[in-house]
Amino acid sequence: MKLILYLLWSSLLVCSCQKERKTIKPGNIWTDNNGIHINAHGGGILFYEGKYYWYGEHKIEGKAGNKAMVGVHCYSSKNLVDWKDEGVALEVIKEGTGHDIEKGCILERPKVIYNPKTQKFVMWFHLELKEQGYRAARSGIAVSDKATGPFAFVKSLRPNAGQWPRNVKDIHKQPVGDDVQEHYCGGKGCLPSHPDTLNLLGRDFDKGQMARDQNLFVDDDGKAYHIYSSEENSTLHISQLADDFLSESGNYARFFAGRYMEAPAIFKKDEKYFLIASDCTGWAPNEARLAWAPSIFGPWEELGNPCRGEEAELTFRSQSTFVLPVQGKKNAFIFLGDRWTSENAIDGRYIWLPFQFDENGIPYLEWMDEWSLDYFD
Ligand code: GAL
Repeated sequence: MKLILYLLWSSLLVCSCQKERKTIKPGNIWTDNNGIHINAHGGGILFYEGKYYWYGEHKIEGKAGNKAMVGVHCYSSKNLVDWKDEGVALEVIKEGTGHDIEKGCILERPKVIYNPKTQKFVMWFHLELKEQGYRAARSGIAVSDKATGPFAFVKSLRPNAGQWPRNVKDIHKQPVGDDVQEHYCGGKGCLPSHPDTLNLLGRDFDKGQMARDQNLFVDDDGKAYHIYSSEENSTLHISQLADDFLSESGNYARFFAGRYMEAPAIFKKDEKYFLIASDCTGWAPNEARLAWAPSIFGPWEELGNPCRGEEAELTFRSQSTFVLPVQGKKNAFIFLGDRWTSENAIDGRYIWLPFQFDENGIPYLEWMDEWSLDYFD
């Protein structure tokens, strides 16, 4: 009898220990099923048929890792803590081929959504053509029959060529000066005037709008949206995708003109749309911004920095990449951010924190050294 009780007690102990191990430790090394630090930076997560799939930039060691030397890595998980390496879902193409996604290009912030009509997995990513710095500002699209890939490259484009946004202003339809035609701006503070008066939208009307930091969002009605930093990063565009998700629909709008919103991620709670984004300071962390809207096409209103406590002004030394609604749990949303280590790109860390909601239902984030999904129960 004593022995049975002892065995029972010790198995309980083992169970509770195992349970305890299922925690998320923001900023720590996060190993996959092979004991290797997960390599999926600037990532996003798809839930499909009972499993989560995490896609992100595969980085290599050193500064070279900031360029795409391998492709987009995929991992799968049922519990969001234990991740199985599913390999490289989208591979870059051999050097010297001149291909859009040739090895050494810049391929950032890949996101995958599933299209039930075509039964295809569709990936969008920020693409910078090889040896052109951040000038190209294109979107790449790849497609697969399986969540884990292999994804086949379809095309790259500048979104919404020849289309005016829903909220176009008269000024955008005026002729654009030569100085603006040739203007190139890699970041914040290098535009001579406000983006509206400079009319970058009009400048890029024919060839398509610039798209750098980007994300995808699928609404409850199945419509998908592409959210991208445009107009030399100064202004965010929200653009509905075509039914097959392989191109833009032409139905889009511009928001936060001159606010340099980067790293955008949208989620929806109680019929309200929330956007979390960052400021524009390259790999260096900055203060996050939260905004809300009653509909995806606005009006969007900024709500300030959603982070609280120590290092709140630096988003806990991270930059947003995605907001994940946890399946089967109500009002359970996880902030996913990257703590970039651009000197040794592969060492970048993942900052995952649960969103909390104040008495008015406004989301906020607090640092946690360690937490588990039980937090949402
Ligand atoms: C950040 C952006 C990253 C990457 C980086 C390059 O602002 O969010 O995705 O493009 O700049 O400096």
